[in-house]
Amino acid sequence: MSAVVLVGAQWGDEGKGKITDFLAEQANCVVRYQGGSNAGHTVEVAHEQFKLHLIPSGILYPETLCVVGNGVVVDMEKLLEEIKGLNERGISTDNLKISLRAPVVMPYHKKIDELEERSSKIGTTKRGIGPTYADKINRIGFRMSDLVELTDNFKARFKAQVEYKNRIIEEIYHEKGFHYQDLLDQLSGQAEQLKKYLADTSYLVYQAIQAGQKVLFEGAQGTLLDIDHGTYPYVTSSHPIAGGACTGAGIGPTCISRVLGVAKAYTTRVGEGPFPTELFDADGELLRARGAEFGTTTGRARRCGWLDAVILRYAVRINGLTDFAITKLDVLDTFETIKICVGYKYKGTLLTEFPENADVLAACTPEYIEMPGWQQDITGATTYEELPLKAREYIEKIEELTGVKYSLIAVGPKRAQTIIGNKLF
Ligand code: IMP
Repeated sequence: MSAVVLVGAQWGDEGKGKITDFLAEQANCVVRYQGGSNAGHTVEVAHEQFKLHLIPSGILYPETLCVVGNGVVVDMEKLLEEIKGLNERGISTDNLKISLRAPVVMPYHKKIDELEERSSKIGTTKRGIGPTYADKINRIGFRMSDLVELTDNFKARFKAQVEYKNRIIEEIYHEKGFHYQDLLDQLSGQAEQLKKYLADTSYLVYQAIQAGQKVLFEGAQGTLLDIDHGTYPYVTSSHPIAGGACTGAGIGPTCISRVLGVAKAYTTRVGEGPFPTELFDADGELLRARGAEFGTTTGRARRCGWLDAVILRYAVRINGLTDFAITKLDVLDTFETIKICVGYKYKGTLLTEFPENADVLAACTPEYIEMPGWQQDITGATTYEELPLKAREYIEKIEELTGVKYSLIAVGPKRAQTIIGNKLF
């Protein structure tokens, strides 16, 4: 059995796209299990850049089955755009399968996300993610299968929902609501175009696992954006953690063989919320400039800071990480000194475990250890031995602090700029 779950070990944007792409080349099946078009993966293949939001990176390989699982919230308009964009560049989407159980992001969800963001200040991507998951949990959402079956029961429920959402939009926010029939026509037309991709994806993934195929579960966002285990309320509304792969793909935990945590060699975050190692000085600017730290989905400048080993140890625990992929190590090439946070000072005491309250985290000051930088270009290194001693010491310090070994190290954006330790498949 060879099923690997890949998760972000920090606040998302860890460079998962590149690692997923690297593993997708070896996988028979790649599965997205949570999130929606709030995610953004940039992958580079043969000098071409691809920005994917909903479709798994495996789509670039014609033999790979690509699954959008039931845990993903589907914005049909965005999905159709993405399919069209790929097809126009000669990439087939015949191997794409979308869960019939996936909740649909409605235009009113996006509108409400945008309106609520004006006062809630979570810093969401305004893609309707929170409102769609809220409706799913509240049992007033709609799934892909509803828009295909178009039963009378669905139409009545949908009409009532549009009227309800219109009251929120018009009476609270004084903006224009939606017309039920127009919306129904628009959505059923989109569902019709997506019909050939829809399937019972849990069954397909199960079959792949049973057949001994290599299956990669591709997490979006990161551990600290998890609705339960992240820095609540500054989180997304899904389960980016490894456990999310079970519910979001419809498989049991016994199907998973390895869990790979992707961690940037430093830390970044977009949106609001506490971030203990955030830098507001020249080092932070340098990280942002060297790491090109601007969001794939919203273009926002990412907040940057030193690596936080408290977070990484927490990610090991919450996800059951078996391996690390350390990305963007080359971004640290020019630093004379590099810091790693190993604990937090809170009201005079030292915390070594990640606190559960975001306000407590906001009041924490990081305790650092310092390591000398290697101050040389590592972008050409292809083996671990080719890395300078000080870079290897940095990696080994991360392993020592977390108890988990690396299996991949990225030293640049290209697929070839990847150092391989343990094989995952
Ligand atoms: P939402 O997922 O749009 O509801 O946004 C909630 C929080 O998650 C905000 O702080 C976003 O910036 C953050 N977020 C959502 N998706 C991503 C991502 O792919 N990378 C990094 N942060 C994200």
